[in-house]
Amino acid sequence: MEPVRIGVLGCADIARRRMLPAMTACRTSTSSRSPAGGKRRRPKPRAVSDAGPCTVTRRFSNAADIDAVYVPLPAALHARWARAALDAGKHVLAEKPLTTDPGLTEELVALARSTGLVLMENVMFVHHSQHAAVRRLVADGAIGELRAVHAAFAVPRLPAHDIRHRPELGGGALLDTGVYPLRAALHHLGEDLRVVGATLTSAAGHAVDTAGTALLTTPEGVAAQLSFGIDHAYRSAYEIWGSEGRITVDRAFTPPAGHVPGVRLERRAGTEQVRLAPDDQVLRTVEAFAGAVRTGADAAGVSVRQAVLLDEVRRLAMRY
Ligand SMILES: NC(=O)c1ccc[n+]([C@@H]2O[C@H](COP(=O)([O-])OP(=O)(O)OC[C@H]3O[C@@H](n4cnc5c(N)ncnc54)[C@H](OP(=O)(O)O)[C@@H]3O)[C@@H](O)[C@H]2O)c1
Repeated sequence: MEPVRIGVLGCADIARRRMLPAMTACRTSTSSRSPAGGKRRRPKPRAVSDAGPCTVTRRFSNAADIDAVYVPLPAALHARWARAALDAGKHVLAEKPLTTDPGLTEELVALARSTGLVLMENVMFVHHSQHAAVRRLVADGAIGELRAVHAAFAVPRLPAHDIRHRPELGGGALLDTGVYPLRAALHHLGEDLRVVGATLTSAAGHAVDTAGTALLTTPEGVAAQLSFGIDHAYRSAYEIWGSEGRITVDRAFTPPAGHVPGVRLERRAGTEQVRLAPDDQVLRTVEAFAGAVRTGADAAGVSVRQAVLLDEVRRLAMRY
C-alpha cells in the first residue's frame, strides 16, 4: 500500500522529539516547511535532519506530493492552519487542543466531514493499549459498579519564553495539560459528562492559568475529579474507583515506548499488579492517522465534546 505522505508545519519540539521518529518508523513520508508569503508571522521552515532521513525541507502547501499536514503549532494557531490545510484538500493531524474554541472545533470537524478528509487531534495516550486493558477490567466487573474517576496531569515549571506562558498563543494549564485528565474521564465515563465546578489559578507573575481543578459528573452521578497544571511536581496518573475495588494507572499519559505498564488493582482480597505489554503510543497514533487516511474512517472522535467541556471548565471556574 502507498505510504501516506505527511508535511510538517514548522518544527516544534514535539515534532522533532516524538512525531517525526514515529512517522519514519511508520513508513509514512514527511516533508517539513511552511507556505510562503503573507504579512502575518508564519511557521518557519527549519532544518530537521537530526530527526531522521524522512524529513526533506521543501514547500508543500497545495502541492500534489503530500496527502496530509501535521500541525504542531501553538494552540491558538491550530484552527487557522488546520483549516488552510483542509481547504487545500489535505488530511490533517493537529496537535492538542485541536482549537481554543469549541465553535471552531465544531466547524473544522464539519468541514473535514463534508470534504471527506481526515481530521484527527493528536491525543496520543488513548492509543496506548493499557487503557483498553483497563476498560476490559472495568467491563468485566473487576471493581464492581463505577463510583468515581480521579485523573491528574501536571508538569514542572516551564521556561519563561515557552509558548504555554503566552495567552495570545493559547497558553495556560487548562488547554495544555487539562486536556489529558478530561480526555481520560471521557474515555472511561463517556460523552454525557458535564462540568459542575472548577477552579483556575494563575500563579503570581503569570499571564495564564498555571493550575486548575474540575469536577464533572455523568447523568447517573458518577464523578470525575480532575487536576492539572504547569508549575507542579510531575504527575501523570488516573484512578477508577468502584464499589468493589480500585484501578490505578501510573504514567498514564506520556509513557515512553519501552515502559512496562503496571496497572494496580486493589480489592478486598488484596492488591494485584497487573503487568501489561509495553506499547508505543506515538507510533500507534501515527498508524491510526495513516489508517484513517487510507480507509476514509472518521477520526474526529470526541474532540468536539472535549472542546465543549474545556470551555465549560473555563466559564464555570472560580479564579484565583
Ligand atoms: N500530543 C502531545 O503529546 C504533545 C506534547 C507536547 C506538545 N504538544 C502540542 O504541540 C504544540 C507545540 O508544542 P511544542 O512544545 O512542541 O512547542 P515549540 O517547541 O515551542 O514549537 C512551537 C512551534 O510553533 C512555532 N511558533 C511559535 N510561535 C509562533 C507564532 N507566533 N507564529 C507562528 N509560529 C509560531 C515555532 O516556530 P519557531 O521555532 O520558528 O518559533 C515552532 O515551530 C502545542 O500545541 C502543544 O500543545 C502536544
